[in-house]
Amino acid sequence: MNDAKALRNALGHFATGVTIVTARSAEGIPAGVTINSFSSLSLDPPLVLWNLVKTAKSFPVFSAATHFSVHVLAAGQQALSERFASSSIAKFDHIAYVDGLGNAPLLSGCAATFECAMERCLEGGDHKILIGRVERFSQHPDVLPLLFYRGRYVVPGLGGLFSPTPVLAAESQ
Ligand SMILES: Cc1cc2nc3c(=O)[nH]c(=O)nc-3n(C[C@H](O)[C@H](O)[C@H](O)COP(=O)(O)O)c2cc1C
Repeated sequence: MNDAKALRNALGHFATGVTIVTARSAEGIPAGVTINSFSSLSLDPPLVLWNLVKTAKSFPVFSAATHFSVHVLAAGQQALSERFASSSIAKFDHIAYVDGLGNAPLLSGCAATFECAMERCLEGGDHKILIGRVERFSQHPDVLPLLFYRGRYVVPGLGGLFSPTPVLAAESQ
């Protein structure tokens, strides 16, 4: 196993939630990606961050966006996660959404949503670190989260964690 693959495998022991981050280009084109590098950064001011690989098709949209929206996925949204982790499809076709702040698409049925103004975009090796200031948020406390652990989707169940379907992630951090 090469070093990068071994490192990715080791990092996969850090269990995370799964999010979809959306934005809209100045030309009006919607962009969205599945991301598990999301993290809270600061409460005062209210900041969050996530990382995007520079080779992502949607990278130009996100790096120029004035706003982005982070959707924390619910346990039943694995198919949506897979859709937004694929570069090769029209991700927003047949998907219900409304326009949020900065016209970033807002998806429904998520555990929580954070609408952010772009605060800063920092270098991070082969990724960029995007920092947003939370301007509006919502949550659904009764919804179980979708989790990601060692390259697999996991949902919390009674008596522990179980994995409904193994997946091969395009990239997980
Ligand atoms: C669970 C999961 C988590 C991911 N997290 C990240 C991430 O934090 N950063 C990243 O750049 N890509 C991440 N990816 C990969 C992107 O979703 C994938 O590269 C996507 O195709 C990018 O879309 P685009 O090329 O249309 O922009 C993740 C994929 C999965 C399945």
